[in-house]
Amino acid sequence: MSTNPSGSHDPKAIAGAEAARRVEDGMLLGLGTGSTAEHFLRALAKRMHAEHLKVHGVPTSLRTEALARELGIPLLDPSSVAHLDLTVDGADEVDPKLNLIKGGGGALLREKVLASISKRELILVDPSKRVAVLGIRFPLPVEVLPFARAAVERGLKAARLEPVLRVRDQKPVLSDNGNLLFDCRSNGIHDPRALERELLLLPGVIEVGLFCGLTSELIVGYPDGRVDCVKG
Ligand code: A5P
Repeated sequence: MSTNPSGSHDPKAIAGAEAARRVEDGMLLGLGTGSTAEHFLRALAKRMHAEHLKVHGVPTSLRTEALARELGIPLLDPSSVAHLDLTVDGADEVDPKLNLIKGGGGALLREKVLASISKRELILVDPSKRVAVLGIRFPLPVEVLPFARAAVERGLKAARLEPVLRVRDQKPVLSDNGNLLFDCRSNGIHDPRALERELLLLPGVIEVGLFCGLTSELIVGYPDGRVDCVKG
């Protein structure tokens, strides 16, 4: 387990290790994206090696796919998988009802597909991700068909959001699916289900980074090595 010079732990690593303990032999796993999910992958690989645990994974991004291959986690073709036993993923924000904002890493579409076919969705966070109301601190990611960029931008503004196109090195960031990402500021998302429904009705919106009612369990890691588990 990683500790810093002051002797405290990385809360994301603590959550990742706890999630790896939940994995059972033979499971079909959804593999999330982001630094916290990567701690889980590393802890899982250790268990697989030490305990001869056999699992298969489906990655939520190209980045996760590359790491899983490096760690020797066998992968399945996502297009052939209709059910998963367990998906382990991170989140950008979590509200008291365990609704989430996801997509800071740009993987929201594949993450939502796998969350929707998983018997259990385990979400790993550090304490900073827990908020009273979604969207005040972290902007809501929305994946958009490039063809519809201007039309969707207008629609997002009409939904009282402030969309900013995600850009890196002065070029629009493309998701693994070849789409654009808008990061939308707001005054707080008080009814995430209603906003998700409203935005999904905009032609050209591919997916919205609101995950409502999908979390089976939240695992919060703390710097002192403790974990909190909250059932959804
Ligand atoms: C990826 O698209 C996101 O949904 C991630 O799960 C989220 O950004 C969490 O990332 P960290 O674990 O790196 O904080």
